[in-house]
Amino acid sequence: MDIHITIDGGRGLREEIYRQLRAAILDGRLRAGEALPPTRELARRLAVSRNTVSGAYDRLAGEGFLAARAGAGTFVRAGAGRAEPPVRETSALRPAQAWAGVPEPPTRFAAAPEYDFRAGAPDVGLFPFDTWRRLIAEQLRGSRPQVLTYGDPRGHQGLREAIARHVGLSRDVRADPDDVLVTNGSQQAVDLAARVLLRPGDRVAVENPGYPPPRQLFSTLGARLACVPVDEEGLVVDELPDDCRLVYVTPSHQFPLGTPMSLARRMALIEWAQRHDAAILEDDYDTEFRYTGRPLEPLHSLDTAGRVLYIGSFSKVLLPALRLGFLVSPPGLREAVTKAKYLTDWHSASVEQAAVAQFMDEGGFARHVRRMRREYQARQQLVSSIVARDFADVLTLIPAAAGLHVSAYSSVPTRPVARAARNAGMWLYTLGDFTEPRDAVQGLVFGFGAVPRAAIEPGLHRLRDFL
Ligand SMILES: Cc1ncc(COP(=O)(O)O)c(C=O)c1O
Repeated sequence: MDIHITIDGGRGLREEIYRQLRAAILDGRLRAGEALPPTRELARRLAVSRNTVSGAYDRLAGEGFLAARAGAGTFVRAGAGRAEPPVRETSALRPAQAWAGVPEPPTRFAAAPEYDFRAGAPDVGLFPFDTWRRLIAEQLRGSRPQVLTYGDPRGHQGLREAIARHVGLSRDVRADPDDVLVTNGSQQAVDLAARVLLRPGDRVAVENPGYPPPRQLFSTLGARLACVPVDEEGLVVDELPDDCRLVYVTPSHQFPLGTPMSLARRMALIEWAQRHDAAILEDDYDTEFRYTGRPLEPLHSLDTAGRVLYIGSFSKVLLPALRLGFLVSPPGLREAVTKAKYLTDWHSASVEQAAVAQFMDEGGFARHVRRMRREYQARQQLVSSIVARDFADVLTLIPAAAGLHVSAYSSVPTRPVARAARNAGMWLYTLGDFTEPRDAVQGLVFGFGAVPRAAIEPGLHRLRDFL
């Protein structure tokens, strides 16, 4: 344990060391059982005599704070300090105004409820752990030192090549590896795109209902928001204000409604962006999981004028904890997004990037996606059939062909329902959680990514008690 002790020469040195160690024990910075540095070492670090340090230790031992164990060293005695660190005094510092209205981050990381139907999470239990351990171990053998030192801000070259091949084949997104930048989840791709495209005060359009984090991010960056309605064909392009510089959309699987944007709307949006000199941010966060029908062309492949930035994520197909996603940008923005990434956090974690690249090259990734698609399709069908069968009196399913959630409109207010279900161990979002203003639409969002098949029916029936 490295202990920081300030010697300012004011008091006696022994007294100073005694006082600071005692304070650290009392306020819990030094915990019971923790070893103190040997007297010789601390004396050398503080440039004082060894006797001075031994004197301070002896006094603390005499008062019951420390115990010496022969041959092992000096330790903090059990019960000598407090378990809780001290509460910090309040500070006069306040965040900039832009942060005033931003809600608390979700408590996803807190203990999971019995039935977790919150949208967004995949089934982490089905991750190929053995393969992953092998892939990571290979990187950590040290035979590729370039993976272990500072890397290219754009991301691991092999991963960018693998992503370019993957989106080219599976989504018809034509991208050169140089167009691809690896990010910390898709959320960072949104951040980088916004940073390089927006000036404070610019207007950004988001879907309403829509995914909240990008919306909140845009406003902290000083953008003015336009919350544009979504109907059964997707974003209502005719409602876009003329002065939008950027339009954020989820066309493959609208979040949270689940509907795809129609081809007519896609063409209209691209044409609108061209006419208004705007950019489109296409968030394609979960369409590796498409169950029926032919996928519609992404905006990126319909766009011939380079107005679309395409975002993908490994959070649903692999693990959210990896924090890996990517941004495919038009050539004119490549340099700026690379600089933005470098200035934000230099680059994403290289060991994990290299492991994902190898997983994709070996074919394991494609096999994993196929396996998960079968599993999620079974869950999606199960959720949809139970909702249609047992909740038809109040809920109307919104047809969806992809992703890890299905949504339904409700004929009764859903906020009290979700609250009661939550108290009974069944968590889910309402459609009103994603509208501006809140609760503008009544409905429920059934995320099934983290609910094993066997738990779907009992979980949904828990909800029936309140609906
Ligand atoms: C619309 C949307 N975009 C992106 C993501 C994934 O975010 P990330 O890649 O930052 O984990 C989610 C996850 O819930 C989402 O719902």
